[in-house]
Amino acid sequence: MGRLKVMPGALEKIAECKLPRELNFGKIIAPAYIECDYKDGKWGELKLVPYAPLHLGPEAKVFHYGQEIFEGLKAYYTDRQGPFLFRPDQNATRFNLSAQRLGMPEFPIADFLESVTAMAHYCKEIIPTKSGESLYLRPCMIATEESLGIKPGLTYKYFVIASPSGPYFTGDSIKVYIERERARACPGGIGAAKTGGNYAASLVSGKRAQELGCGQTLWLDAVNKRYIEEMSGMNFMCVIEGIIYTPAMTDTILDGITRKSIIQLAQDFGMHVVEDKMDINKLLEQVAQGKCTEAFACGTAAIITPIRGFVEGNGKELAFKSADSKIAMKLRQELLDRQEGRKTAPANWRVLINAN
Ligand code: COI
Repeated sequence: MGRLKVMPGALEKIAECKLPRELNFGKIIAPAYIECDYKDGKWGELKLVPYAPLHLGPEAKVFHYGQEIFEGLKAYYTDRQGPFLFRPDQNATRFNLSAQRLGMPEFPIADFLESVTAMAHYCKEIIPTKSGESLYLRPCMIATEESLGIKPGLTYKYFVIASPSGPYFTGDSIKVYIERERARACPGGIGAAKTGGNYAASLVSGKRAQELGCGQTLWLDAVNKRYIEEMSGMNFMCVIEGIIYTPAMTDTILDGITRKSIIQLAQDFGMHVVEDKMDINKLLEQVAQGKCTEAFACGTAAIITPIRGFVEGNGKELAFKSADSKIAMKLRQELLDRQEGRKTAPANWRVLINAN
């Protein structure tokens, strides 16, 4: 490996770790993680260390001004093939776009790639091996400077934790709550950055969604409250008369790596994909008329999860006429086949980790 240092105890802790039968998503955290500190304008050592709580002053900027960014990607070891990472270069690039937007230092792409590769390498024996399961990797950067001035921090911590996980949703499909009042992001804001503030903005609506029996909130644009943007932790797609539609990218939507991979896969299969503005009211009419036959959530954690219906804040529900989600399920299988190593993937999509 490049510049990573393995600190005493880290490998022993990983070797002692036993996975329970039920994994869930993000509940079990690997007993070692990677960290790297930034000070005096440069990044220091990249280290694999035994898991321990972070030691930060309560005045650290991350706690007050939310100067924080993260990524999500998975290491796959299905039926002990691999381990593989899926398009980690895309996460590395997006991490630095988020860093720029939040006024944080960029993290060197080579170090990002080395850190996620090393987590997959050293944690190989705790990567779950059933299809749909994986080692979810969470690279993160926080402002650690202990000072209350509203300006970018002078010190930062980068770290990568790992969670042996099942899929984000345990059921076969979800209903989504259409949020018509609150907004997740606005033009010129931070909606396209992967930063905690966007997720914080979604939490109250997430509670309402749960009360309404929904697995996610569907966000509309902040200006017109009319055009679909994304869900709280994943992108949105639907199928209208055999064509896949997804909201066109704007600075209020996170540029999903699963989203762009599905677009490419679907096009490779000869399907037509349209990226455009999508009016929620028109879409609901098309669902009612039976023209829109499917909708689905797509993201690293969610993979592809069919949406079986839409719910308004007053509880009014509109369900799809048929729940077979044929296109979503076909795309899900094709995507997993490429991520988990069963089918040839486009160049640079699947990265084999040398785990010996
Ligand atoms: C991911 O899919 O990696 C995400 O970031 C969603 C997550 C917030 C659960």
